Amino acid sequence: MLNSDHTPFEYDPNRTAMIKPPSNRQFHNRVFFGNSSAARRCFKPPTMAAFQAPSTISSSSSAFLAHNSFTLSSSKLCLPRSKPRVILKCASAPPTETAHKTKVSRNANMAKLQAGYLFPEIARRRSAHMLKYPDAKVISLGIGDTTEPIPDVITSAMAKRSHALSTIDGYSGYGAEQGEKQLRAAITSTYYGDLGIEETDVFVSDGAKCDISRLQMLFGSNVKMAVQDPSYPAYVDSSVIIGQTGQYQKDIEKFGDIEYMRCTPENGFFPDLSTTPKADIIFFCSPNNPTGAVASRDQLTQLVRFARDNGSIIIYDSAYGMYISDDSPKSIFEIPGAKEVAIEVSSFSKYAGFTGVRLGWTVVPKELLFSDGFPVAKDFNRIVCTCFNGASNIAQAGGLACLSPDGLKAMSDVINFYKENTALIVDTFTTLGFNVYGGKNAPYVWVHFPGRSSWDVFAEILEKTHLVTTPGSGFGPGGEGFIRVSSFGHRENVLEACRRLKQFYK
Ligand SMILES: Cc1ncc(COP(=O)(O)O)c(C=O)c1O
Repeated sequence: MLNSDHTPFEYDPNRTAMIKPPSNRQFHNRVFFGNSSAARRCFKPPTMAAFQAPSTISSSSSAFLAHNSFTLSSSKLCLPRSKPRVILKCASAPPTETAHKTKVSRNANMAKLQAGYLFPEIARRRSAHMLKYPDAKVISLGIGDTTEPIPDVITSAMAKRSHALSTIDGYSGYGAEQGEKQLRAAITSTYYGDLGIEETDVFVSDGAKCDISRLQMLFGSNVKMAVQDPSYPAYVDSSVIIGQTGQYQKDIEKFGDIEYMRCTPENGFFPDLSTTPKADIIFFCSPNNPTGAVASRDQLTQLVRFARDNGSIIIYDSAYGMYISDDSPKSIFEIPGAKEVAIEVSSFSKYAGFTGVRLGWTVVPKELLFSDGFPVAKDFNRIVCTCFNGASNIAQAGGLACLSPDGLKAMSDVINFYKENTALIVDTFTTLGFNVYGGKNAPYVWVHFPGRSSWDVFAEILEKTHLVTTPGSGFGPGGEGFIRVSSFGHRENVLEACRRLKQFYK
């Protein structure tokens, strides 16, 4: 039986009950008790493989929650009973013909989104693989989620703030929607020291992805968007949801009315701006997810000039800025003239392991104006006050600790750890003779398999090495023929992954 995402559900018609397919978390927790042989065959005690599985899918999976609900819920698990019998616990009732329907029509923009979205599809294939090879130790280098613990200097600050909330003096409720003054000041001085950005230009957020959607709300549906191809999927999907795009065109794997700026090894992963049509909003990410490429000062100068010439606004995503180890700009505001044409979104997620804590920021300079001269920041402030009530005060205490001297050192240690992983992965693929891109200034390695389908390569690597990667085509048609390998992983897993790759591709 299939649900709307074509996810196979196990269904027991005799009991009118369905259970969900095993998720990453649930896989080995699923226990059937009974004295039938079928039930005995179903019984699988937990194995180490179960505990290797990451419990989340990806911070990049913007459509994941919309399509799936793979959560660990004890109420959804089949638990032992004293009397042995087959138990199938109901997770949701199958739709029947008499099901009540409201008169609300589905948002047509939501219907445009592609159901077979990248990360749920990877999760589905991974689950199927684990069913096929229950004893395999599956290692994921596919998802963009951090794995290493948050440094103590940061968690201690959060714990302190949390405990203070239990006291009369330390309690605080709603804070400023734009973020706490001290944190805004610390972000300004740490990341934009002499770039002319002021504390009031900085809006603290609950993460870059959330602000990408708020920015879409700010600009509305009547703008034309341009995006790097390949790119982080949230840009395109949020653009579809807000209604900026046409339908998905299956033959070219693109949505109508979006400008896809092709980024390939041939153009140094920087689009040819001389042939790029004008767009109102240009999403640009450097260091880039997924290619790992970083834009040089000269390239960003070209981008800013392009935006100025066309009257466009750049939304610059610097979520991986701290991974830059050469002299490439860490912020778009290092480029003269950028303040009049750019917004920057950034995040503590990949610096401090805050993917679960949730904290980021967006810089909207007061110099950035709409065509009628109205400051963009004023409208963004209105969006933030209306749609967001400010980041968690505990997370903000953590953010402030991140920017203390000890916190900066601790973040840099974690980043260096991931960069050592990256070097191992780059070395492995290079030794094996592949063309490898990225990796130097980003936690992502972009490996070329010329002439092959990304999904085929993904499937081959999973089948033969029990490693999960990400097929490049999931990031846009420009990613076809590549896979993205993430360096977020424990060292022993990365070493083991490299060993398996060397064994298979030698
Ligand atoms: C390029 C890029 N931007 C933004 C995000 C989301 O960051 P956050 O966790 O702050 O929402 C990610 C997460 O993977 C990303 O890769």
